[in-house]
Amino acid sequence: MKRLDGKSALITGAARGIGKAFAARYAAEGATVAIADINLAGAEQTATEIGSNAYAVALDVTDQASIDAAIATVEQTAGGLDILINNAALFDLAPTVEISRESWSRLFDINVGGTLFMLQAAAKSMIRRGRGGRIINMASQAGRRGEALVGVYCATKAAVISMTQSAGLDLIRHGINVNAISPGVVDGNHWDGVDALFARYEGLRPGEKKAAVGAAVPFGRMGTADDLTGMAVFLASPDADYIVAQTYNVDGGNWTS
Ligand SMILES: NC(=O)c1ccc[n+]([C@@H]2O[C@H](COP(=O)([O-])OP(=O)(O)OC[C@H]3O[C@@H](n4cnc5c(N)ncnc54)[C@H](O)[C@@H]3O)[C@@H](O)[C@H]2O)c1
Repeated sequence: MKRLDGKSALITGAARGIGKAFAARYAAEGATVAIADINLAGAEQTATEIGSNAYAVALDVTDQASIDAAIATVEQTAGGLDILINNAALFDLAPTVEISRESWSRLFDINVGGTLFMLQAAAKSMIRRGRGGRIINMASQAGRRGEALVGVYCATKAAVISMTQSAGLDLIRHGINVNAISPGVVDGNHWDGVDALFARYEGLRPGEKKAAVGAAVPFGRMGTADDLTGMAVFLASPDADYIVAQTYNVDGGNWTS
């Protein structure tokens, strides 16, 4: 018996990176997984790589019609939704005096609005079905404290931690556990982009910021997407029945509260 046998999961932003690793691990644990992403071609490729218990779904988390359609597809394809991982997000970086309204709106629309309205649509579906469920939000160490050049992204991830608390306290009466995972620095496409932005604003060579943040992790290296999958399985499993509204650091020791 695998830990997620018979469960239906939807993972946003699962075409690549951490979401893709979650999807592969969930499928290996017996779940049927909707790979939901704005990059449909990437989602289809990921679903093909994972195999028969994964399928691609077009999703833009900033568009309510797209959210509703994705949930309806999961209900039709898998008979209902047991687990949502709210993983899609965008990063940006700028000194405070250069933050643009466009960047602010886009990051809040995807990271905060996308998380809230996906969570809401998933919760409505779970409540209609009457079997409870699990919702896992992707926070970040960036949401635990501010960073000089990362004001907007940090604020969005602080909002994710706050929404996890509020929704977690509200939805547990429906048997829906809402919790969050807070990674530190995870190597991959996302951090390649972050490294390039730091290089521009801090005058660093490509790869220099990545090497520095990796060396600073108490564990001794940057994280990998696979480092996070165990927590995602645990939070979706019966072992986490009594865990409500929490945010767990999985960050090699970067943050301790
Ligand atoms: N990589 C890190 O170091 C790190 C650290 C802390 C937290 N996180 C968080 O983990 C999560 C995954 O990060 P990642 O590194 O895999 O990111 P990533 O950039 O590699 O992947 C993000 C995915 O989201 C998709 N996406 C973007 N906008 C979307 C939209 N509007 N609708 C649907 N999908 C959309 C992208 O197509 C992409 O597939 C994010 O929430 C991120 O903030 C990452």
